[in-house]
Amino acid sequence: MPSPLRIWHPFTNAALDPAPIEIERAEGVWLHARDGRKIIDAVSSWWVNLHGHANPRIAAAIAEQARKMEHVILAGFTHEPAEELAAGLRKWVAPELTQLFFSDDGSTAVEVALKLAVQSFSNVGRPGKCEIVALEHGYHGDTAGAMSVSDDSPFTEPFRAMRYAVHRVHAAYCYRCPVGLKRESCHIECVGKLKKLLEERGEHIAAVIVEPLLQAAGGMIVHPVEFLKEVRALCTKHDVLLIADEVLTGFGRTGKMFACDLAGVAPDLMCLSKGITGGFLPMGATLCGEHVAAAFRSENRLHTFYHGHSYTGNALACAAATASLQIFNDDPVFDRIAGIARIHGERLAELKKYAVVGDTRQIGTIGAIELGADDAGYLSAMRPKLYAFFLEHGVLLRPLGNVVYVLPPYVISPEELHRVWDVIEEAVTTLF
Ligand SMILES: Cc1ncc(COP(=O)(O)O)c(C=O)c1O
Repeated sequence: MPSPLRIWHPFTNAALDPAPIEIERAEGVWLHARDGRKIIDAVSSWWVNLHGHANPRIAAAIAEQARKMEHVILAGFTHEPAEELAAGLRKWVAPELTQLFFSDDGSTAVEVALKLAVQSFSNVGRPGKCEIVALEHGYHGDTAGAMSVSDDSPFTEPFRAMRYAVHRVHAAYCYRCPVGLKRESCHIECVGKLKKLLEERGEHIAAVIVEPLLQAAGGMIVHPVEFLKEVRALCTKHDVLLIADEVLTGFGRTGKMFACDLAGVAPDLMCLSKGITGGFLPMGATLCGEHVAAAFRSENRLHTFYHGHSYTGNALACAAATASLQIFNDDPVFDRIAGIARIHGERLAELKKYAVVGDTRQIGTIGAIELGADDAGYLSAMRPKLYAFFLEHGVLLRPLGNVVYVLPPYVISPEELHRVWDVIEEAVTTLF
């Protein structure tokens, strides 16, 4: 008898972590386990779910599409679900963005943006303008290029040799200000490192990649809008492309459809994934402006973007994404988002009084607390304790080390959301 083929779970150490919980059914914010437990999904299943699990409208759209056509090659062909999705997104994305390239997930959407940026300059005879700038504390995915632009972390540690060199500049992490200032009296001096770099090496730099306004996996670090505005202005001044990785922040998470909208900024390239299909199917998309796309419309065949994944523009994923956008059009989604933001604000204000709560942070539907810890960071010993405590109390939360955050599907009720914060408050007051 061959040994059984065991599933290797992501971000999981089979020697240290508890056995996976088998989920049989999910509805709204609730995960129903085979052993009878009911768990609130307060992290939207790795930040993908928007309108609740098993949303009937999205499920029906996928079923209907599956009966017509599941998938066809997108090179040399197109289809209604892909065209419909592009048309649906038009209403929401900055008018400066005019082309959309499909991929599979957040990491590949980032890879596409980086490659488009570099090749766009190469195609117009500037191959030396190929360097990339990224932020401290950034996280952009797990593939090699996305890992390269992500900051050093336990996730990247074994792969030093596989990561290409990038310029690393300060992020606006106000709680641990990189230039030792206080937000109340600063003038976004943290952007000075980027400013100096672009002044010195701008002609070699193709792009700056940022997670706009919220660095998520790096610890739910919320930036002042002025930081993003300054980065945009510096990129424009030095003819450097701004890549906004909206893989997490997209589709309402920060209170507007896209985080860039909050700062009134249009990026040159934008990466989307996670919520794009409402959390039903994998899909990535990279949007870019005409000035980028124009470099690829060339008589020279070598100027083609030779990149494409097998499931590019998958019709089922497109149908799910269009159904999700229809929910934005038809339902009071932004009222739900505002309701979540209100409750986060109230509960965070209360949590500030506990000595162990070092910082509270919020942007839209994302509320976070950074706990004081001697071993701050993803590997903090607080993490496994907190994770187990939350699950024992029927809530799925995945602390980023000593940072606990809530990022729920938009359909969470006020009672359910208060329940999540009650459990967090209990952990804060009883565990440490
Ligand atoms: C900002 C950001 N970019 C990219 C990614 C990578 O997305 P994926 O896990 O779908 O490859 C993530 C994932 O968490 C992310 O938060």
